[in-house]
Parts: sequence; structure tokens; C-alpha cells
Amino acid sequence: MHSIKFLHQDIHDEGSLKNMVSELLSQMGLDEKIGQMSQLCGSGGWIPDHLADAIRAGRVGSVLNEVDLDTVNELQRLAVEESRLGIPLLNGRDVIHGFKTILPIPLGQAASWDPTIISEGARISAVEAASAGVNWTFAPMIDITRDPRWGRIAESLGEDPYLCSVLGSAMIKGFQGADLDENGSIAACAKHFAGYGAAEGGRDYNTANIPENEMRNVHLRPFKAAVDADAATFMSAFCDLNGVPASGNSWLMDQILRQEWEYDGFVVSDWESIVEMTVHGFTGDDEQAALEAVNAGIDMEMASSTYRDHLENLVAAGKVDLKQIDKMVSRILELKFKLGLFRDPYTNPENYPELLNESHLQIAKEAAVKSCVLLQNKNRVLPLKKTALNSVALIGPLADDGYEQMGTWVFDGDEANSISCLSAIKELAGSELEINYAKGIESTRYKDQDGFAEAVQAAEKSDTVIMVLGEESFMSGEAHSRANIDLPGQQEELINAIATTGKPIVLVVLAGRPLTLDKVVDKVDAILYAWHPGTMGGPAIADLIFGVESPSGKLPVTFPKAVGQIPIYYATKNTGRPPSDESCIQMDDVPARAPQTSLGMASFHLDAGYKPLFPFGHGLSYGEFHYVKITTSRSHIALGESIDIAVDLINTGERQAEEVVQLYVRDLVGNVTRPIKELKGFKRIKLNPGQRERVSFSLHTDDLAFYDRNMQLITEPGQFHVWIGGNSEAPLWAEFEVHE
Ligand code: NOJ
Repeated sequence: MHSIKFLHQDIHDEGSLKNMVSELLSQMGLDEKIGQMSQLCGSGGWIPDHLADAIRAGRVGSVLNEVDLDTVNELQRLAVEESRLGIPLLNGRDVIHGFKTILPIPLGQAASWDPTIISEGARISAVEAASAGVNWTFAPMIDITRDPRWGRIAESLGEDPYLCSVLGSAMIKGFQGADLDENGSIAACAKHFAGYGAAEGGRDYNTANIPENEMRNVHLRPFKAAVDADAATFMSAFCDLNGVPASGNSWLMDQILRQEWEYDGFVVSDWESIVEMTVHGFTGDDEQAALEAVNAGIDMEMASSTYRDHLENLVAAGKVDLKQIDKMVSRILELKFKLGLFRDPYTNPENYPELLNESHLQIAKEAAVKSCVLLQNKNRVLPLKKTALNSVALIGPLADDGYEQMGTWVFDGDEANSISCLSAIKELAGSELEINYAKGIESTRYKDQDGFAEAVQAAEKSDTVIMVLGEESFMSGEAHSRANIDLPGQQEELINAIATTGKPIVLVVLAGRPLTLDKVVDKVDAILYAWHPGTMGGPAIADLIFGVESPSGKLPVTFPKAVGQIPIYYATKNTGRPPSDESCIQMDDVPARAPQTSLGMASFHLDAGYKPLFPFGHGLSYGEFHYVKITTSRSHIALGESIDIAVDLINTGERQAEEVVQLYVRDLVGNVTRPIKELKGFKRIKLNPGQRERVSFSLHTDDLAFYDRNMQLITEPGQFHVWIGGNSEAPLWAEFEVHE
């Protein structure tokens, strides 16, 4: 029985929305309320009896993982027509980086440093998913990730709280549109609240121990931004945070989220993360797990059934307050109203544009172009000039693999729609150049070298070599962490073999994380880091290699030389003994039987120094950008005021190109120690050859705020350094002072 009486109510009017919710709530039995708090898994194209019966009985609020449209509409019909109160379902899906049109993995998208393309990418993902009846995605993942061993780094927006906040908010806006009720808008989910990115050892699901001050200054910041961006939902993390699993953590769910941030959306648990609290050793059984989760503030349970099995008893026993349940159910109902589901729960595909249409593919291509990071370009080997070459060799197991280029977390994409590097390069240059393709090795993990000879031959008969290497898509993502993050299998050996030909080598890396490339950087001329670039990866890479486009991506995460440097990130603390090039002694330079104090007495590794292979923010282009004349509008500002910091950006190269100009700040003395640099702003600037432009940033003293040792958000008067440049190690700096 459809709740007809809500059809004409105004869901945009706060008061009438609240009235509709409370009216509906007043008609609900406790079992129906608990039903709304329960999310069950769909079966992929059919409806098992237990699910149909539970929906009819009003015992299901949401389904996940059902994208067969007829099945989704039938699920909605069961809920709306055959349950007592006719409450429609939320239908959730992991639309992480595209639905059918697959965008670069989120870490790749973050390398674009472009909130506009990220928002457009999320929008087309939402529109495509909505056409299959999905009304809720479990994205964006805004965990701060400083450990590339962790497979889920692929799904993240990188290491920096500011960048992650800006880009995560852009994704939320793209998914949710101007209005949740709009055709093609779906609810977003900020996940995983919180601390999951700090899993010890980079091993998925592992414990996170994060001091409160670091939680507030680093890990929580993107989540606060998600609240401000109106993310409809949050997801609790799997991990144990400082001894209390996130799904039972009332400090997170109640104190921070509800009391401090006044968040009014709802929180869904992660998959079975409520029952897993017993496995963590935090609760004794499912009933206790339900009690801890509900009292902490988890509004909806994903996949497991502790709420359905135990909440009624817990309420009857007086351990759970009915008022708490009512609040939780209200939040869930409110979202259903806001999504317009009471007005029309069904999906008509005719209301949506075609999947994988030209404009969606263009957005995916632009996202891939902007995501690729040119890490090195010795002797300006790139871009390749078709007119100067007769032939190129294309070598590597990922050069022609539509499946692997899509990356992790692709449930709905189809490799048949991917355009590989080989196809795209043939299309772009095949009529003018001889393309000599050889796979070289069967897969990135392959142990044999039986394809090497053919690959070397292809290189020998070509003017230049393009190698497409990296990781298969399964090597990153959930539960896919690695302890060794070198190029897997025989790929380094393949580079060595090709290098013996003396031909210029362009290395294109397809991967879900930063790989440790220290052993290969000197063997190749150019490195284009393309992450897993998605459906349009091939055309994007081809355009970049042949100079149709100029690379403009910048690293959203630091690239270590060696795993032993992890965690390594630019916003590190100074320590009492900061390293420098002078103090950083190489192990091999130390004589035998050296005394203990012969070394630099500073914070570095004897065998790896202190610098990364490539710093956060790094990325080259075909332009040549120079930064000069940094100025501050004033030397002193009072609390509550703003200051402008500007620089001249000049492109002395021969190509038009885009540069991501970055602003960093250091607060020299803090109530708690402050990072040696913190990103505070960035802008994408396009310049013609010879063009010069003044680029300016405005910084308010609120932008300098941090949580002090009493966990108060403050801006302290004092001295600040400020840098503007093309990466986090850029040298051009100025200073200013903040006073009371
Ligand atoms: C587990 C993952 O941690 C989460 O990110 C995802 O959204 C859910 N499963 C649903 O698939």
C-alpha cells in the first residue's frame, strides 16, 4: 500500500519534511522501525523468498548490490505495494569510480587536483547508476592514506587532509547534484569513519592507533568537510580505533559526529562490522554487538542481522531507548523523502541518457588525461613526434588489457568497453608509424622470461620504446594489500633487457598505488604514471605520449624509494633532529669500525636517506614553468584577517600547458608541534608559451587553525612561512606574522 498522502507534500520544506517523517514514524511498530535500520544483500537478478518476505513484513530498509533494473523495480514494488506502510527502499551500490563508464581509480582522479572534473565524473557515475535503480553509493572514500602497502589507497584521495577535503566534497556534490530529488542524483556516503587509512603495517582491516590530536588535525578533517558538503550518509570503519572498534565507538559517532558537527544524515555500518566487534574481542556476542553499535550511533546495519535479531529484546530490557531508535529511523526516512522515493520509487530507464554515451566517455577521458602524472622526462623524450619517428615498440602485459586498466572496485564496468593503449596508439599514430607490439610477459606477476626475446626484437627494430607495466587490478583495493610494492614479477628484468638495446624508453605505469620505482628510474627516460585509468585510459595515454595533450597531474601521495621509509608524507613534523642533505650520511660512505656518533645524528635512514623518490605535489608537463617574485600583501595580520600571497608563474616552454600551483604554509611554533608544510590552496593555471601570470591566494587566519593540546580549534599568533610552487618541495617562500 503506497503512502499516497505524502505525494503532495513539499520535501524541500524542512518543517513539512519533519512532519511527514514523524507522522510515518507514529504509525510504525518497533519491528518496522528496526526493519528500516536493516540493510540486506540482493542476489543479483532475482529475489529469494526470504528477502521478499522480509520486505513484505516491513523488515528491510535497504538492499545493496542489486543493479538488475527489473529486479530493483520489483523490490521497490514489494516494499511499496505489499508492505503495510509502503516505505520504499534505499538501493545501495559501490559506485566507486564509475558505473559503466569507468573513470580512473579515485587516487588517480585525485592526481588531477581538479574538483570540477571530479565532480563531473561523480555526476555521470550517479546518472548511469541511477538508471539501473541505484539511489545510494558508498563513496567517496575519504580516509587519509599514508601507506601505499594498503590496497585501499587506490580508492582514496591521497595523503593530504586539505586536498582530500576539497576533492571529496566535489565528489559528494557530483553524486548528489543540486538536489537529491533531481533525476540522476544519488545519495553519497562518506567512508570509512574513521581512522581506517592508518591500518597498522598497511594490512587491510588492521588496528589503527591514532592519538586524538592527530585524529582531529588529520584524519577527521575530510569527514568534517563531508558534513559541510551535505553528504547524505556516513559509513563506520571496520577498524579498531584506539581499542574501540569504529562501529561501537561513541566518541566518533556521537561526540564528534552528532554533538560537535551536528550531522543530521545517517550512519550505516560497514559490511558485518557490527558482528565483527565480537571477533575484535570487544563484545561477547551478537546481542552485545548490537547494543554497542546502536548506543554508539550506527543507524543502519549492513549485511549482518544483529539489529533484526536483538534490538526488540534490547528495547524491552530497557537497554536501548526507544527515543534513540526513533531518531535513527527518522534520519533514514528523511533521506528516502529527500530522494523523492515516496513520490516515485521506480526507475524508468527512458528518463536517463544512454550508458557510455559520447559525453560520458569524454569526461572519463578528460579525467584520465588530467590524472596521469609525468614523473620524469629525461632529455624531453616526451612528447613523441610522429614526424621524427618511423616506428615505436609497444611492450608490456598491460599495453592491451581492457580489464586490468579499469582497476579495483569495478562491479559494473565491462572490459569490452575499455580502449587499451595499443588500440589507441594504433588509432592515433598507426597510419604514420610502424607499431611493433610485444607483450614481453604474460602478466605482471608472470615468472618466466620466455617472451623477452620477442620484446627485445620489437625494441631493436623501433626508434623508441613505450613499455606499459605495473600492477593488475586485483593487487589493490579491499583486502588486497602488498608488503613489497616493487613492480611485480619479471617486469624490472624486462626493463633491464629492453634497456640493453639503448633505445629511448617511455615507461607508462598502470597501478593502484605508488610503486617503489627506485630500481628502474635510471633505466628509463620518461615515466608517465597513469594509475588504473579506466575505460578511456588508452586514448588519454596516447594523447599524452604524442603531445595532443600536455600532462598536468600532480601526485596526491608521496612516492617512497623503499618500503622501509613508510610512512613517508610531506606534512611530517620537524623532529628535534631534522635531517638535511649535510647530516644525511650514506651507509656506504661510513668507514669500517666507525664510532656510534660518527653519523649525522639526525632523523634519516642510513640506507635510504630522508627524501622520497618523488614528493607530494610533483608532476611535470610539456610546458616549462617557473615561479618568481613571491609576495605577501602584508607582513602582519591580526586574527580574523586575510592575507594575499602571490607569485608570477611563467611558461618558458614551447607548449601551452597547465600547471597546478600549490600553496603551503608552516606555523613555526605551536601549542602542539605543527607539520613542516601544509597544503592550503591550489589552482590549475593554463599558460601559452612565453606567457606570464600573477597567481594569487587569499589566506584567512581561520585557514591556519589547528586543534591544540586541549583539543580546541585555534589559530595561534606567531610567525608563518609560506611557499608557492609546483610541488611540496618547491623552494620559493615568504613569511608573515599573525598577531592578536
Ligand atoms: C566493505 C567495504 O569496506 C565498503 O567500503 C563497501 O562500501 C562495503 N563493503 C559494501 O560493499
